Amino acid sequence: MNVSARWFVAIQTLDELRELYSDKKISDNNFILGGGSNILFTKNVDGLVIRNELKGIEVVKEDADFIYVKSGAGEMWHQFVLDCIQNNRGGVENLSLIPGSVGAGPMQNIGAYGVELKDVFYELEAFHMHENYISKFSAEDCKFGYRESVFKHELKNQFFITSVTFRLSKNPTFNTTYGVIETEMKAMGVKDISIATISQAVINIRSSKLPDPKVIGNAGSFFKNPVVSAEKHAQLKKDFPEIVSYASGIDFKLAAGWMIEKCDWKGKRFGDAGVHKNQALVLVNYGNANGQEIFDLSTKVLESVMEKFGVLLEREVNIY
Ligand code: EPU
Repeated sequence: MNVSARWFVAIQTLDELRELYSDKKISDNNFILGGGSNILFTKNVDGLVIRNELKGIEVVKEDADFIYVKSGAGEMWHQFVLDCIQNNRGGVENLSLIPGSVGAGPMQNIGAYGVELKDVFYELEAFHMHENYISKFSAEDCKFGYRESVFKHELKNQFFITSVTFRLSKNPTFNTTYGVIETEMKAMGVKDISIATISQAVINIRSSKLPDPKVIGNAGSFFKNPVVSAEKHAQLKKDFPEIVSYASGIDFKLAAGWMIEKCDWKGKRFGDAGVHKNQALVLVNYGNANGQEIFDLSTKVLESVMEKFGVLLEREVNIY
């Protein structure tokens, strides 16, 4: 789908960023783009699109157990993960192959296969677009939640993330709690588990289930996995004994992909807008669907899950 911006600029240095925002009018009508992998454009941007291309990966400090690595927010996330693996820095291997930029990671606290960005986060730096200063944010300041942070809420459209610092492990412990990782490593014939083999297992799993956005347009999971009360969960379990769910504190998280599949959406297609054949949580664009068509499909999916299960799905993708 083609959308256009009235103006576009790529930012490669902090000086360029400061210079850009020295014009007070800029912050009124701008849109910041990282890798663009978690956004659905339903219309043109009648303003300035700013692409974050702040690069560079550097070690900022280390102690006996940890190494603190600062990455420019415009680095591509998977490149950063590969750099960590090459240097034997543990913690992000389960997050291999997630599309998008490093700076977008904390925006929505990216997560996969039992690990979330917040688990390895140390701090970030961000530029206040209206008052032109750089501020540091700790994990607490970021208010991370499930695909959530302060930057999607109270501080929305206030800050431009410039760098993220991670606390990575020199003696990695391995997170294989997510069953499919162990299954995949067995299939790979892995004897000595390492961050490199976990990363490869995750790459294999993701490649088999999730469509590659370079090949077929998609923004990963289109919806969040909804959280329901224990009472609602008990009712659902009675009506649908096979429902896939996980305890989440005193509540329960439901696998939205399972519910969408049960509503018969898996592999369905309307024109070029469709529900992915291997993972019903992912909506895909086979080529020429426009943003509105994808959005309309998501509404239909949402309505049928509400009708069958009485559960309201929330979109995970940012809609513009
Ligand atoms: N399932 C189905 N049918 C489907 C899809 C899933 O029955 O069409 C079932 C699976 O069999 C499994 C359960 O649902 O029992 C969970 O599926 P899966 O492991 O594929 O993960 P998910 O809950 O659908 C979440 C994240 C993904 C992340 C994976 C792995 C969200 C919104 N999505 O998906 O993140 O990669 O777990 O950890 O939390 C993303 O955010 O864009 C993303 C891809």
